[in-house]
Amino acid sequence: MDLLSRGLIRSEIVEDPRLAGSAAGLQFANPMGLAAGFDKNAVAVSQWHRVGFGHAELGTVTRHAQPGNPRPRLFRLPADRAILNRMGFNNDGADAMATHLEEKRAAIPIGINLGKSKITELADAASDYAYSFRRLQSFGDYFVVNVSSPNTPGLRGLQEKGPLGEIFAAINEIDSTRPLFVKTAPDLTFAALDDVIEVALEHGLKGMILTNTTLSREGLATKIDEAGGVSGRPVFELSNQHLAYAFRSVPADFALIGVGGIFDGEDVYRKIRLGANLTQVYTGWVYGGPGMVPRSLRQLLALMERDGVTSLAEIRGVDA
Ligand SMILES: Cc1cc2nc3c(=O)[nH]c(=O)nc-3n(C[C@H](O)[C@H](O)[C@H](O)COP(=O)(O)O)c2cc1C
Repeated sequence: MDLLSRGLIRSEIVEDPRLAGSAAGLQFANPMGLAAGFDKNAVAVSQWHRVGFGHAELGTVTRHAQPGNPRPRLFRLPADRAILNRMGFNNDGADAMATHLEEKRAAIPIGINLGKSKITELADAASDYAYSFRRLQSFGDYFVVNVSSPNTPGLRGLQEKGPLGEIFAAINEIDSTRPLFVKTAPDLTFAALDDVIEVALEHGLKGMILTNTTLSREGLATKIDEAGGVSGRPVFELSNQHLAYAFRSVPADFALIGVGGIFDGEDVYRKIRLGANLTQVYTGWVYGGPGMVPRSLRQLLALMERDGVTSLAEIRGVDA
C-alpha cells in the first residue's frame, strides 16, 4: 500500500468534465472504477481517488469472516496478461467492514459487493446476503449481489431465476432505495443471461456488472493446471460480448458496468461503445501499476478528441 498511500502527485490525476457521467442516479467524475476483490475489507476506502479512480467497489464481503482457500490461490500469467485466482472470498466479514467504514470516508462513490459465506447452505443464501446488506446499507452508494465467483462451491447456481429472485427480494425488503446491481459470470449462456436480466428488471435492480472471471482456459499461452477463474486479457472479448448483449436487452436507464481485460484507454472506450456507463479494472491495474488510471483516462480523452466526441453518454452503446 506504500505507493497508494503516497498517492500520485496532484497534476497526474486527470479531471475533465468530458469524462463525467451518471449511472443509476449516481454521479461519477470518470468512468474507471476499482473492481471488486482488491479491497475486500475496505481498508483503503479513503484512498482510491488518489490513484485516479472514479469509483471503487469494496468486497466481496460475506456475513461471516472466512479465511478463503489455502495458498497458493493466485497465479500471475504474464504471457497472457492474465491472473488465475481461487481466493474463495477471504474477508473479515460484514461486521468488520462496517467498523472500518464507520471510521473512514470516501471521496468517490462506493459500491459494496456482497457474497455468500462458505458455511451458509445454498438454500439459506438470501438471509446471508440480507444480513450483510442490513449491516452495511448506510455505507454504500450502490450494492452488488455477487453470484458469479467460481470459487465458492455452488455459488454460480444462484444465478438461476428462483434463488436470484429470493436474494433480490430479501434485500429489497430491507431497503429498496439503494441502487442494487448483480454481477454475472462470463460463462453464462445468453439464455441464462436473459433470465438474470429478466429477474433483475422484475425486482427493480438498477444495473449489472459484466463480468467476473472465466473458467475457460481457451487461448491461454501459459500451460497451467490449476483450478480457479481467469481474469485479464483472456476475458476481454468474452466480457465484451456479454456487455453488448445486455445492452441490447435492457432499458436505457439500466446501468451497465463493463469489467474484464481493461489495460488502457482504448479498452475503456471499447466497453463504453459496447454499452457500458462505467468500467472497472483489476488485473490491468495490477500489471499497470498506480499510474494506470490517469494514463488510460488521458488516452480516452485523446480518442474522444480524435472522434469529435464531447461526452461519454454520446457514444454509449453505439457499437453494440
Ligand atoms: C485476485 C482476484 C480476486 C477477485 N476477487 C473478487 C471478489 O471478491 N468479488 C468479485 O466480484 N470479483 C472478484 N474478482 C473479479 C474482478 O472483480 C473482475 O470481475 C475480473 O477480474 C475481471 O476484470 P479484470 O480482467 O480487470 O481483472 C477478483 C479478481 C481477481 C484477479
